[in-house]
Amino acid sequence: MTVGFLGLGVMGTPMATNLAKAGTDLIVWSRTDRGNTPPGALRVATPGDVRAELLILMLAGESAIDEVMPRVDPRGRLIVHMGTTSPEFSARLATRVENQGGRYVEAPVSGSRGPAEAGELVAMVAGDEDGKAALAPHLGVMCRQVVDCGAEPGSALLMKLAVNTFLISMVTGLAEAFHFADAYGLDRDLLRQVLDAGPMASTVSRVKAGKLVSEDFAVQASIRDVLMNNELIVAAARKREIASPLLDVCRDLYAETAALGHAESDMAAVIHGLERHGLENGRTVNGAFTRTGKGS
Ligand SMILES: NC(=O)c1ccc[n+]([C@@H]2O[C@H](COP(=O)([O-])OP(=O)(O)OC[C@H]3O[C@@H](n4cnc5c(N)ncnc54)[C@H](OP(=O)(O)O)[C@@H]3O)[C@@H](O)[C@H]2O)c1
Repeated sequence: MTVGFLGLGVMGTPMATNLAKAGTDLIVWSRTDRGNTPPGALRVATPGDVRAELLILMLAGESAIDEVMPRVDPRGRLIVHMGTTSPEFSARLATRVENQGGRYVEAPVSGSRGPAEAGELVAMVAGDEDGKAALAPHLGVMCRQVVDCGAEPGSALLMKLAVNTFLISMVTGLAEAFHFADAYGLDRDLLRQVLDAGPMASTVSRVKAGKLVSEDFAVQASIRDVLMNNELIVAAARKREIASPLLDVCRDLYAETAALGHAESDMAAVIHGLERHGLENGRTVNGAFTRTGKGS
């Protein structure tokens, strides 16, 4: 089976590269050619030129998919949406694809660029049962584990939003721990050593703590992308009429960090947003600067 892959971004590039390395007959398209065509893959000029039975979308978000999909004929094809959008958007896309004679599976993933390079993503799948079976060998190349979330498009994306609620609050909490340590003149590397050795250590905390020590904010998951994910979570919470106090605060922090010029930096750069906060009458307020001798 020929696989088409649309969107060679931070995630799509390593995912498509792993498919190519596994010997998949692969055709790729991406809006910008950064010289990152996976070895052995055929790169084509437009989405309509991707002639493949199975088409994977790893696009930035809803507007990107809205721009690309009208240039794709889903007839007789399996369309697989692996990026992150609202569950409702995915359900509407499923209906459109099926009305046009195609099959549809959503397969959002947990794990950023590092796990994508290592073929260690975790996929959540929902949609057409035959489609899931056809997709399985390819997910096996890109993922450590695949979790079936049911037949209803949208249910895997709801799961992804629950997973990201934990991710975003965890990484933001880690950044605040470093911000706290800075205020007391604690050594960032000693903090990293304690955290890495302790019971809260995870692949994510180790990578992000390393980034905070070296102040290397090369992107694994961008502030822009995390803000989009955060907004999806808050919107879904409101839709269900529940509060999302942690994610409300995180959304403001990621928005402020993006406004400071860090939109394309890794999410660990949220520490720059935290550094802009200050105190008024003993309560945290936005926009003031507290970290002695640093920042702007
Ligand atoms: N990074 C992560 O840690 C992570 C983890 C899990 C899931 N995700 C999700 O996976 C998806 C991709 O993430 P990513 O980090 O790879 O994003 P990314 O680096 O921003 O890449 C997304 C791709 O979408 C393309 N694109 C953006 N706007 C477009 C448009 N209007 N028309 C056509 N193509 C367009 C980009 O093309 P250009 O290169 O031309 O901009 C790029 O190929 C997102 O939905 C994200 O939320 C990300």
